[in-house]
Parts: sequence; C-alpha cells; structure tokens
Amino acid sequence: MSFKTRCTFAIISHPDAGKTTMTEKLLWFGGVVREAGMVKSKSGDYAKSDWMELEKQRGISITSSVMSFEYNDRALHLLDTPGHKDFSEDTYRTLTAVESVLMMIDSAKGVEAQTIKLMEVCRMRDTPIVTFMNKYDREAMDPFALLDNIESILKIQCIPMTWPVGNGVDFKGVYDFKTKQILSFKDSKDPFSPSLIDASNLESDSLCETIGAPQLEKLKEDLEMVATLIPEFSMEEYQAGIQTPVFFGSALKNFGVKECLDLITQIAPTPRSRQAVLPPFDSSAPKVVIEPTDPEFTGFIFKIQANMDPKHRDRISFMRVCSGMFSRNDKIYHVRTGKEIRIATPLIFQARDRDIAEEAFAGDIIGLYDTGKYQIGDTFSMGKKLIRYTGIPSFAPELFMRVTAKDPMKAKHLEKGLSQLSEEGATQLFIRRHTNEKMLGAVGALQFEVVKFRLEDEYGVDAMYESVTCAGVRWLKFDDKKKEDQFCQEYSSVIMEDKEKRLCYAVRTEWDLRLAQEKNPDVQFFKNSDYIE
Ligand code: G4P
Repeated sequence: MSFKTRCTFAIISHPDAGKTTMTEKLLWFGGVVREAGMVKSKSGDYAKSDWMELEKQRGISITSSVMSFEYNDRALHLLDTPGHKDFSEDTYRTLTAVESVLMMIDSAKGVEAQTIKLMEVCRMRDTPIVTFMNKYDREAMDPFALLDNIESILKIQCIPMTWPVGNGVDFKGVYDFKTKQILSFKDSKDPFSPSLIDASNLESDSLCETIGAPQLEKLKEDLEMVATLIPEFSMEEYQAGIQTPVFFGSALKNFGVKECLDLITQIAPTPRSRQAVLPPFDSSAPKVVIEPTDPEFTGFIFKIQANMDPKHRDRISFMRVCSGMFSRNDKIYHVRTGKEIRIATPLIFQARDRDIAEEAFAGDIIGLYDTGKYQIGDTFSMGKKLIRYTGIPSFAPELFMRVTAKDPMKAKHLEKGLSQLSEEGATQLFIRRHTNEKMLGAVGALQFEVVKFRLEDEYGVDAMYESVTCAGVRWLKFDDKKKEDQFCQEYSSVIMEDKEKRLCYAVRTEWDLRLAQEKNPDVQFFKNSDYIE
C-alpha cells in the first residue's frame, strides 16, 4: 500500500455527543473490534492495561491514541481526541497531525462549547470536515434548525447527504439524496446491508403506507426546501473546509454510520503537502513546502505519551510521517539535536494493541520509544535534510496555577521537572517576568494533577499549587524593540515568558485584554504560538 491509501483523521465533538460510540462502530467496520465496549470504558477497565498509575486510578485515558484499520481499500488512522476531563492541549495538537475530521453533533443540543474550540484549530489549516448528526433515535432538533445552528456558529456550509424522516420514537430512517431511497431505521438489522425503501416517487401509495402520511408530507416539504436553499456538494469546497457533507443517524444503533464512513473513504484527502522552514529556523527562516511524494523521509512529533509502562520510565513519542518512506532499522536524523538515531522498534497501533511497524509511508503514525530525548514539534528526516515542520504550535491555556516546591531545597528538581514536562507537552510553563514566579498553564484541569503526580513520582518533588486569576495568554509580536520595551514596562505585572522565552501577555479578564489591544493597535496578540513561523 502506498501513501495514496492513507486517511489520517480525528473525531471532534463535545463530551457525550457520541465520539466513543462512533469510534467503536468505525473500528467494527474496520474489523478491529468484534463488539462494542472494547475501545474504552468509562467504568474503568484500564486496570488491565499497563498505563501509568494515575490513569489506572481514574479509569480514563489521559492522552490520545491512534487506532488504525482498513476499510474500502484505505488505510485509516483515527487519532483520538480526548474530550472529557482529559481534555488537554494534546486534543488540539492531534488536529495538527490529521488531514480531515469527522464532527459529531448531539442532535438534541446542536453545537456545544468544546466543538467550537476544536473547530478553531481545524480552521488553522482549513481541515476538511464531514459531519454526523448523532442520536436521531432520540428526540432531536429539526434538521433545518440543526444545519442553521452549525452554519451560524461554526461558519461552515452544511450540505446534507441524507435527510432524517422523523426522530425519536417516530424515527423512520434517512432519505439518501443520491439513491433516492430511505434507509429504514426499524428494519435495518445488518449495517452492511440496510433495509431500503424506494422513495424515487414521493407520491407513491406504498411509500405513504410505509412511512405514514404526516411523515411523508413533512419529507416532501423538507426536500423541496433543501432543493431551493442548499447548493450542490462541491469537492473543492469540502477540501477547502468551506462546505461539510452532513449525515443523520445513530451511532449507538449503528445506523447511518456506514454511509458516513463510505463517504469518508471516498473523499477524505490523502496526505497533503506541509509547510516547513529551513535554517536558521527563526522568524526570518525561508519557508518550504514538503510534498508527501518527496522521496526523502520526513516526519514530526505531535504527541508524547509518558510512562505507558511504569516499570521502564520510557515514553512513546508519536510521529506523523509526512513524506517518503521509513523502514524498520532505518537511521533517521533528529534535526534539533543533529543526531542520527536507528529506529529498531517503531510501533503501529490497532485499537489498544501495538505492534512493530516494518515500514511506514506519508500519513502513517508511528510510535518511537523515547527516554526523554524528543520534544513536541521535533522534526526527523532521512539524509540529514535540514527542515523544521511548522504548524505545531502551543495553544493558549485557559487555566493557570502558581507552582512551588513544598521543600525549598527541591527548587532545582522542580525547575528540571517542570521544564522537561513542558517540553513533553504535559502542561505549559510560563515565567512571570517581574517576579520570576513559575506558572503552569493548562487547557484541561486534569493536566495539573498529572504534572503534580509526575513531579513527585519522577522528580521527587512535592509541589504546591496556588490558583491564579488568569483567563488566558496571548503571544505578543512587536514591530520594533522600542515599542516592546515600552509595552513591557507599562504592562509589567502581566508580562510572562513561555518555555522558549517568547513574550506573552497574561489575560486577567477579557476586558483588560480588549483595552490593551485598543490602546496598542501596533502590537499583535496571538492565541497560539504559530505566528513566529
Ligand atoms: P463521548 O465519547 O462523545 O463522550 O460520548 P459516548 O460515545 O460515550 O456517548 C455518550 C452517551 O451517549 C452514552 O450513554 C452513549 O451510549 C450515548 N449515545 C451515543 N450515541 C448515541 C446514539 O446514537 N443514540 C443514543 N440514544 N445514545 C447515544 P451513557 O448512558 O452516558 O453511557 P453508557 O453507559 O451507555 O456508556
């Protein structure tokens, strides 16, 4: 198989919209799991796995993982985006490693907060999105209201591929615009061959009898409205993230899922070209575009998962392959350190199992055993190619804690621990300029617990947290040094540096931020650190 079969994607949703249920169904179609409930269980069957202690105690997965399967002649890599308590920067960063996204919406609720945040990240690279309106077997919003809800909040044009006939107890199924058939909800027992009702003639008596007169009337009205109001699906607009094809169904009942997966395998992009920079790797660095067809292997680390095996203090770094081909035992070049590393045991992932990868192509995700050498965003290449991939930024945290060591003698250990853990992306470390205080920033609250646990477990530091009134950060960019000095003096109490010593503004309130922006129109405020690239 070549890179042309690869489909590297993620599911975005708000907690409880049905992401886990959908994942299970997709893996089921891919033949990876035989029954539901095998992917993860909120009740916590992680006791069986050897992941880190905290994960076991909580029965949750802290960091996202990769699930690979084959379907319709495509090699799919589904990257998990943790969404409950384990929502973290990893969730955002995973989206920088995918080519497309499946968006799950709870049809009774419409767009919810976490989906909006994740959509912002998708917008950074205009990631193509397929949408699944879930839980139609329960009472749901009217389909037009739902489409309108998505279009107005997420600013993406919805193109229905199917249309629901009723919902909840009256859910009859979905009308397929292409085949002009209704997939019967009640009678479809086998998702591979659903029971179909001919709906090519909407005036037919037998159709009226099958779905009921009021339902048919509503369907006729709806389809007329769709024909007048909604444009045709355009592949170009989907690929540009302007349009999203929409399916209605029920992940729980495995209804409408196959049709959605079929379309994904037909239209989801194969690995695309990616932006990189050449030395000197700073803001003046020349930009290059790397094509997946480039013969030389390149890839970057987008996620680091710590202590999958507590007996060996190792971590697994997840690398997205961007070009060329990689074979087991190849020596690859770690651009940041200038070292060549032989990779003898690259890992591939299937649901919760892992295996040794013999080879990998653009679009594939491989796991590298890591003793602490790699960092998020590190680029690897073959033939000492000197490039650095861009577009793997730090994302503005929304929660902050001041952190100190209970025992002042452990200050050095704390510093080392915090700096290493922030390189790994567990949380972000900021230093307040005028006080030198260390602040940890996180996207999800659980990240603080993880860091506290690991500081104690791995660095022997009992850390104390103190909450800080801070609603976010903005990375700052100035046109000249004089303006920078002036600004930093005026706002000294809220100026921080991130781990790479980039200047940041600590947002106390949105109001303060707006005021600072209005007073300083020539200063740029960024919600992620990507501006530098
Ligand atoms: P998440 O990963 O996005 O958080 O959602 P998850 O799949 O865990 O689903 C959240 C709840 O919604 C689960 O119920 C799940 O069974 C239910 N659900 C998912 N898809 C559908 C659907 O299409 N129809 C209906 N009716 N329910 C759906 P739960 O009771 O919270 O959990 P569980 O005890 O069933 O695991």
